Amino acid sequence: MPRPASSGRHPTTRPSAVWTPDDRQAAALQARLLAWYEQNGRDLPWRHTTDTYAVLVSEVMLQQTQVSRVVPAYGRFLETYPTLQALAMAPLADVLRSWRGLGYNNRAERLRRCARICVARRVPGRPAALPATVEGLGALPGIGPYTARAVMVFAYNADVAAVDANVRRVLVHELELPADLPPSAIQAVADAVLPHGRSRDWHNALMDYGALVLTARSAGVAPRTRQGAFVGSRRWYRARLLRAVLDDGPQTKAGLAALLAVDGPFVHDLVLALERDGLVRRSGDTVAAA
Ligand code: ADE
Repeated sequence: MPRPASSGRHPTTRPSAVWTPDDRQAAALQARLLAWYEQNGRDLPWRHTTDTYAVLVSEVMLQQTQVSRVVPAYGRFLETYPTLQALAMAPLADVLRSWRGLGYNNRAERLRRCARICVARRVPGRPAALPATVEGLGALPGIGPYTARAVMVFAYNADVAAVDANVRRVLVHELELPADLPPSAIQAVADAVLPHGRSRDWHNALMDYGALVLTARSAGVAPRTRQGAFVGSRRWYRARLLRAVLDDGPQTKAGLAALLAVDGPFVHDLVLALERDGLVRRSGDTVAAA
């Protein structure tokens, strides 16, 4: 990045290691964002819990869906499946019905798989529990490095930095960093500015500032794709096919082709992909929810 030599905020020579803010810069950013958060923070339902499972449900839902859609779905989902055990025992078709409105149905299947793994590993006589480390969480299906870290932050107030698109945008903008900084470098910056002992508040502050003040539009940064599938796209057809068998029961491929107004080979292809993802089952020519 061409940095102004006079600003004194950044080194004027190219550093051999990744640049990270010094303590003074970190403290200034922390003070500013935490003060803003105290006045302007959002009251979101998953901020009222430190239950690891509930936090995981919220983070998985928030991976690809807007907060406004997640809020009602989160409450409904946890009412239906309040524990890992309840989710693990539920038929997948029911779980997928509870996922309605969120999109990216694979997430629901993976979340249930996580629950089943935790139930299978539980200590006899104790309720199933999620791992309490970034590494343990990250080894479960559908939990990437960001989600594993976010769960540690929001469930345990752990001193780890979780960087999603919002957090990245805030750090890049507020610290005047190059927009194309690689993920490892932005992670080093996020680690350096983390206020130890206040990780939960800090991440809430970063996320709210990113969502309310420094929106992708205002920062001139392209948003991550969080909108629904384009009408007519493959993902759109996939979602419609799955909804059809969830809502109306098993159907023939010919029936589905007619319903979706597409040809047989295309439906066959969609069914194979959904079957591979564990979302539908085939029996001869009939397709049912898994
Ligand atoms: N996006 C991802 N995680 C979030 C959270 N915990 N709160 C608000 N937005 C989020």
